[in-house]
Amino acid sequence: MCGIVGIVGHQPVAQRLIDGLKRLEYRGYDSAGIATLDQNEICIRRAQGKLQALQDLFTQDSINGMTGIGHTRWATHGIPSEANAHPHSSDKVAVVHNGIIENYAHLKEKLIKKGHAFTSQTDTEVVVHLMTDYLNQGLKPLEALRQTLADIEGAFALVILIKGDNNTLLVARRGSPLVIGEGNGESFIGSDALVLAPWTQQLRYLEEGDYAIVTPQGSQIYDIDHHPIDRPLKTINISADAATKGGYDHFMLKEIFEQPTTVKDTLDSLINADTETLKIPVNIDWNNISKLTMIACGTSYFSTAVAKYWFEMIAKLPVEVDIASEFRYRESPLPTGGAALFISQSGETIDTLEAMKQAKEDHQTTIAIVNVPESSMDRLADYSVHTKAGPEIGVASTKAFTAQLAVLACLCLDAAIKRGTLTETEAREHLQHLLNLPNEIYGILQKEADYQQVAHRLQPARDALYLGRGTNFPIAMEGALKLKEISYIHAEGYAAGEMKHGPIALIDELMPVIVLAPSDKWMVKTLSNLQEVIARGGIAICFTDCIGRTHIEKDGIPTQIVEMPESHLLTSPILYALPMQLLSYYTATLKGTDVDQPRNLAKSVTVE
Ligand code: M6R
Repeated sequence: MCGIVGIVGHQPVAQRLIDGLKRLEYRGYDSAGIATLDQNEICIRRAQGKLQALQDLFTQDSINGMTGIGHTRWATHGIPSEANAHPHSSDKVAVVHNGIIENYAHLKEKLIKKGHAFTSQTDTEVVVHLMTDYLNQGLKPLEALRQTLADIEGAFALVILIKGDNNTLLVARRGSPLVIGEGNGESFIGSDALVLAPWTQQLRYLEEGDYAIVTPQGSQIYDIDHHPIDRPLKTINISADAATKGGYDHFMLKEIFEQPTTVKDTLDSLINADTETLKIPVNIDWNNISKLTMIACGTSYFSTAVAKYWFEMIAKLPVEVDIASEFRYRESPLPTGGAALFISQSGETIDTLEAMKQAKEDHQTTIAIVNVPESSMDRLADYSVHTKAGPEIGVASTKAFTAQLAVLACLCLDAAIKRGTLTETEAREHLQHLLNLPNEIYGILQKEADYQQVAHRLQPARDALYLGRGTNFPIAMEGALKLKEISYIHAEGYAAGEMKHGPIALIDELMPVIVLAPSDKWMVKTLSNLQEVIARGGIAICFTDCIGRTHIEKDGIPTQIVEMPESHLLTSPILYALPMQLLSYYTATLKGTDVDQPRNLAKSVTVE
């Protein structure tokens, strides 16, 4: 969602702020802007739409200054427009904000009564007027910030530029992440480490409730109780080309094709390939966990749904899975001795983060699987395991998903070994399948022509259905989500056995039905469902392996087959996810949609 960048330094900042905003584009936005302090004047450039509009405006009418702030806005309060774009300003301050000021309406009313004139529909603007009001009362900037923070409620990250204070930015964090980077005589502020990567890798992460005064020489941070505090300086290694497409047309395509490496890197961090044994970096006491609750959103939720089958079938551990936004308000009684596992690419999704806080209050052992080290969930959980997918820029999650599944497969084996439900020999057999995954992924990604051909069948459709059973039921849902997200074709993923309880009514000769049928214990049943689709004239496309093909041909089922390699309980959902990603990618490119930044979507969902 909204992205923040700030620089306080000794060289002109405006173009660098825009460059920083380019690295925040992936979060999703509808307008953008920058503000600098030039000869003690606040200068602002803002534009609705893509960053190119802001760049064009800046090129025609540039601004100077060595201190500045920038913002990409994902609209919450107020339509996407230049007037609602950040920074918002008065004659004294300019403000960028990520999050929501929940009590803004009440504050706005009070401020209007005091004579403040508002120019936008945003919640953010109350921060501008509160700061201005306190400065007008004679408070020093830091004291004005303290008073403002005491007035506002909600989740936010704020960066404030103050007229008359050329070498200073004020920042505050409550809920939304914010990081301060230290460079050579310059300081940087960002929503994440990626935006700061080309400038510095020396970072201090603000904790919940922290605020700070940032100067070119560094920062003075205060905690929620107003005590000066040192937050550790961490070195975060992100390659500067993580935010480039590396010759691919889209980040999403690059990230899909990175999967042999990202899955291998993830597995290498968890398995000793020489001894074919696990080396999980955290020691979870699976034997004393009575029940596991897994919670996440979107694609990350589908990885919990796959893992439920694994943990129940292999580790014999009862698992409940929940969508974070539902879990939070469901008042689900969590068992004594229970554990709650949270999955998130960003580690910042607000619903998942809040659910984790709730589970901690309910005395659950909390486990996080995140892709962003030092993210809020990473730091809050009792145990945290990292996916090694590297920065995922495309809004549609791909490589993070398969890396999550790789981690979950290993954690499941860890649980099974500790709970005594697998012998060492059985565990080794599972591990051998996992170790072979990167090669199999590579092979599947080479069959682009097959997926492009199926994409041509999906492109004209208004709706599509994805069917699967067992561990491939969540992959059917994930395939449907991918198609919806980037091609805007309505799609549903269903448990194949559930089709005849409703969705079968939708099937006609215009409806593509993607059937996932690896040769597992569910295959024969799934192929019966495939027959039901064909009997009603649906356009059936079946993803199966050579054993499935033999069945289909023996039974004379008239379906298009896309052949997959033979797979195994732990590898099949990972392998079958790949063609689903490429189908949606090729369908979207045929339709000409904005693959990496699909309409209305944000990468990191930091509002409820
Ligand atoms: O960062 P998270 O994994 O917590 O994000 C969860 C969802 O917002 C995310 O998976 C979303 O559904 C993706 N756009 C799916 O492609």
